[in-house]
Amino acid sequence: LPADYLRVGVLTASDKGSKGEREDQSGQVIKDMIAKIGGQVEKYDVVADEQEILANTIKQWVDEDKLDLILTTGGTGLGPRDVTPDATLEIIEKQIPGIAEVMRMRSLEKTDRAMLSRAVAGTRAQAMIINLPGSPKAVEECLESIIDTLSHGIRILQ
Ligand code: MTE
Repeated sequence: LPADYLRVGVLTASDKGSKGEREDQSGQVIKDMIAKIGGQVEKYDVVADEQEILANTIKQWVDEDKLDLILTTGGTGLGPRDVTPDATLEIIEKQIPGIAEVMRMRSLEKTDRAMLSRAVAGTRAQAMIINLPGSPKAVEECLESIIDTLSHGIRILQ
């Protein structure tokens, strides 16, 4: 499964974004980086920071739409409305701790605040699901540290 066959979903968790009160820059950063490796962004949505909505959207994109990779952005921190990792843990079958470890390790070189991200990564059926933090800068830094290894991991899942 070469990178140019990757079918990708980008899911932004943002209360403000879902109400149209904030432009989704982070989602755009992900789309641009995925396009650069030749992946196809087939699904994109901005939803409220609600665990059930997040879990149901990811589940549908995997089970019905058969996407290979779902990248979420936002809601990984310690705020009362930050529930993206909890939604992800609810629907994944296996965790991939190394992906979250690498993102945090590389990010810690830039900011101590990286330790505050609860981002997780895992698999459900043939798909890989990865949480990225919310800021455009964090998204770029985190995705950059893992992007070259993703298509190999996803190929093994098929
Ligand atoms: N990771 C990188 N690479 N760069 C960053 O600037 N910001 C951190 C962290 N991870 C950051 C980062 C901060 S300030 C927080 S609060 C957590 O991600 C969680 O962000 P989120 O709640 O927007 O997902």
